[in-house]
Amino acid sequence: MNQSPIVVLDFGSQYTQLIARRIREMHVYSVIVPCTIKFEDLAEMNPQAVILSGGPASVYDPASPVADERVLKMNVPVLGICYGLQWMSYKLGGRVEPAERREYGFARLEFEEPTELLAGLESPLRVWNSHGDHVAAAPEGFRVTARTENAISVIENFAAKMYAVEFHPEVRHTVEGARILRNFVEKICGAKPNWYPRSFIEETVERIRTQVAGERALCALSGGVDSSVAATLVSRAVSDRLICVFVNNGLLRKGEFEKVTAALREQARLNVRAVDHSARFLKRLAGVADPERKRKIIGEEFIRVFEEEAKALGEIPFLVQGTLYPDVIESVSVKGPAATIKSHHNVGGLPKDLKFKLIEPLRELFKDEVREVGRELGLSEEMVSRQPFPGPGLAVRILGEVTEERLRLLREADAIVVGEVRAAGLYRELWQSFAVLLPVSSVGVMGDARTYASTIAVRAVTSEDGMTADWAKLPPAVLERIATRIVNEVNGVNRVVFDITSKPPGTIEWE
Ligand code: XMP
Repeated sequence: MNQSPIVVLDFGSQYTQLIARRIREMHVYSVIVPCTIKFEDLAEMNPQAVILSGGPASVYDPASPVADERVLKMNVPVLGICYGLQWMSYKLGGRVEPAERREYGFARLEFEEPTELLAGLESPLRVWNSHGDHVAAAPEGFRVTARTENAISVIENFAAKMYAVEFHPEVRHTVEGARILRNFVEKICGAKPNWYPRSFIEETVERIRTQVAGERALCALSGGVDSSVAATLVSRAVSDRLICVFVNNGLLRKGEFEKVTAALREQARLNVRAVDHSARFLKRLAGVADPERKRKIIGEEFIRVFEEEAKALGEIPFLVQGTLYPDVIESVSVKGPAATIKSHHNVGGLPKDLKFKLIEPLRELFKDEVREVGRELGLSEEMVSRQPFPGPGLAVRILGEVTEERLRLLREADAIVVGEVRAAGLYRELWQSFAVLLPVSSVGVMGDARTYASTIAVRAVTSEDGMTADWAKLPPAVLERIATRIVNEVNGVNRVVFDITSKPPGTIEWE
């Protein structure tokens, strides 16, 4: 993007990505770089403002992440958040006191005029805190404009355009957090909105057209949003010279292979080679109950199938992948807790030594931006708002062995869960909603007969990025319809339970 970004310097907070997302929601371009970036490289990006993220460390910890102090003297507005506030205060001569214990959770923010950062808001505000150290005295030139019961919470230096907050305005728990960031981005920085899907599409299509220049490109479709949008973008540039391979691994949901193939051909006008290799996958999974073994087998088999398909198509120099910005950041960022919370399983990924030149048109985008781009490209709402579905598919939602019969049970039950969630208008609010088949049989009674049959667990979660998640409080009437329909309609299931575990400590998937 040839506009100056608002650069977020990452000190390792699990919330860093949210900062950039909130700014982009204002249609202003924002990028994340590790705090250890060379100053010259940062300066070359010509940032219109710098935001210092939170982080897990204390400024007194010798191993704490450090940035080049010259970032505080670039003559652009600066906003420090949490550790960013402490680091900035410490470097500018304020006093930071080590914490006896971390302050975590809600706090009441009381503030007073004049304030630029909190302008237009009313004191007190409910804010979300997660910090260890706190600032005991602001650096020279700064005013304290807000406090919580325990600590100095907001400091501002209007003349130097430097601001910092102890709490996290980027998380939804902070009431008015978005307004606070908006004050910084729009009023203080004067940033102009110019980050829109349409301009992104135009630039990307142009770039890919030049890059591919008359050659052919290959794309492995999964049916998910990312690969569908990536392929559609590339096909806008190279038309039928993009060949999309969609493999049925036998672990897709009810009707998914047919429906997705049709949608991608008709709506997205993609050149799709849909190949059914279910039998191969199921044969290799026979007798396997261990989740990691399942994942490994599916991953390996996928690579084999894809290599065979690619070979049959002759020499193709380019490969399209739906890599998103979070994956790109994760591979370069400082190792904060964010790095360890997420166990990133990328089954279905291709080996690095395949001799393709990569096209990754979504490398700069967050998931919600991918959806917006998809809409702008004319993909249907059903396509772009699909919930994530894991690469190993239903195999990791069948606890124990994967068999045709167990796949049938799960497919039927899952279609009911998703159907009822959609009918209740809840599908888009949920990060994921699905059924899990448990390796548990229990006794029931149907009509006058005793039954002894399988159990389905219903899983529904809300989340912003899949790294943490809350169990969704589905209305009892919806749960009741789901349970009644599954037991009545899915022959072989006589009990339905609802999973009320959040992540952490649970994971979203059961395997
Ligand atoms: P967990 O279960 O770890 O899942 O809380 C977090 C997110 O990742 C998805 N997931 C997977 N995606 N291959 C994938 O491509 C996998 O093996 C896999 N396991 C989990 C999960 O659906 C959720 O969105």
